[in-house]
Amino acid sequence: MVQELHFILNEREVRTTEPSGMAVLDFLRKNQRLTGTKEGCREGDCGACTVLIGELTDNRVSYKSVNSCLMPLGELHGKHLVTIEGLNMNGLSPIQKAIVDEGATQCGFCTPGIVVSLTGYAMECNHHITKEGFKKILGGHLCRCTGYRSLKQGFDAIKEHVNNKSGIQSLVEKGIIPEYFQSIPMRLINISRESSGNRETTADFLIAGGTDLYVQKGDILPDSRIDLLNMHPEMKDIVRKNGLLHIGALITFEEFSNHPEVIKAIPAVQEYISFIASPQIRNRATLGGNIMNASPIADMAILLLAMEATLILKNGGKSRSAPMTSFYKGYKRLDISPSEILAEIVIPVPCPATKINWEKVSKRKYLDVASVNSAISIKEEGNIIRKIQITMGGVAPIPLFLKNTCDYFLGREITRNTIKDSFSILQHEISPIDDIRGSSCYKRLLARQLVIAHFTKLFPKTVKVQDFYE
Ligand SMILES: Cc1cc2nc3c(=O)[nH]c(=O)nc-3n(C[C@H](O)[C@H](O)[C@H](O)COP(=O)(O)OP(=O)(O)OC[C@H]3O[C@@H](n4cnc5c(N)ncnc54)[C@H](O)[C@@H]3O)c2cc1C
Ligand code: FES
Ligand code: FES
Repeated sequence: MVQELHFILNEREVRTTEPSGMAVLDFLRKNQRLTGTKEGCREGDCGACTVLIGELTDNRVSYKSVNSCLMPLGELHGKHLVTIEGLNMNGLSPIQKAIVDEGATQCGFCTPGIVVSLTGYAMECNHHITKEGFKKILGGHLCRCTGYRSLKQGFDAIKEHVNNKSGIQSLVEKGIIPEYFQSIPMRLINISRESSGNRETTADFLIAGGTDLYVQKGDILPDSRIDLLNMHPEMKDIVRKNGLLHIGALITFEEFSNHPEVIKAIPAVQEYISFIASPQIRNRATLGGNIMNASPIADMAILLLAMEATLILKNGGKSRSAPMTSFYKGYKRLDISPSEILAEIVIPVPCPATKINWEKVSKRKYLDVASVNSAISIKEEGNIIRKIQITMGGVAPIPLFLKNTCDYFLGREITRNTIKDSFSILQHEISPIDDIRGSSCYKRLLARQLVIAHFTKLFPKTVKVQDFYE
């Protein structure tokens, strides 16, 4: 079925019957001839294709930066798509001016994406730009010419224009965004009154955030039958009920890490998230997609597995639950039938005595996948381990729950020797292979180091890093 999509592109309303699976980047460059959005890697790595997506909630439009190379056109229905051309005004915006003044652009290939991201940050930072936040945004962009120093030097000038001002109107007055932004909420309300079309029921591909799928299958998705899962609003909530957190499978990494219930349950979650992908990817990547792509190093899968997650799988009106510990059957083999989708992830809310830690070692600190990652959830009483779940990625064909190692720890006292004695069980339980992320030998070493890291971080008075090197 051909579906007409209706959305706002910069200032203009657009109706199109181009395929839903076409990447937004291709629509912009090939169909609309808006070539300010650049094509670099097509894999989410460079940020040159960054655009803003504005979505209406409660009569307010909130904007997120995304990589247009990994986003399906079909999801734009009823939304506001902003490209670098849509930020044009008579003069330079304070963000553009700061980049020019600091000599932070040379070939200019990365510049449109950076301007778009920083403008999105100015719009969504609640008028409080921080140096840390600014650096995080730049983390989603590769610049091969200037380095990042000159970009960072623009921070003070941008901050002066953004902080302590309220609302879209003041950003318009400050010349950060054009005036037409003020009319967008009302225009989107009018579009949202129209039907959003039907979902494809017999699809070749289910697409959630698309951040995996477009890297793997981007060339065939425009011509395939696709089901855009983001059209399932019921899979986008986080609810706490009867001691359990019910997390919709379509919750993105950013939504997860910013949710108050999640922060209560996993206090360091925002720090963990900063080591996963880039802001643009985290705005799109879903927890469900991370579990379903079944990568042995999937960062969120490793964390959720340690938190005793149960998966709720749905097939039409029917649903069943599957413990995550038995969901992975082998490399990319899952306990799910083709007619089922992952609808929800349920985790028990950790009791106050439970401590959680997550570790990741990658070749590059930011925007890199793990060589080995690991999470732990542990409860002790009087220094005796009463409950423990340790998981590890990159050491087996699946995200691994270290059952034997955990069985060993149960009921034992937390001491240097207890931890040291667990290493031989750990080494028997893992089976890493040589690949581009490291040799098998290196990963075995990391596995041991990450167990040490868990205990020394969570129990610094009881065990110290130097205990293991005497
Ligand atoms: C530049 C870049 C950096 C990345 N960095 C990291 C990283 O640091 N750590 C990390 O773990 N991952 C990383 N990833 C991988 C990716 O972003 C994550 O795995 C993400 O969680 C995938 O989610 P998605 O919603 O985009 O999945 P999609 O691409 O939409 O889908 C992935 C697969 O899961 C299936 N699927 C998705 N949702 C469901 C559902 N609810 N039910 C049934 N099937 C479903 C799809 O059909 C598809 O087969 C990175 C990716 C890129 C491009
Ligand atoms: S083209 Fe590089 S992130 Fe999209
Ligand atoms: S200015 Fe050339 S890549 Fe950034």
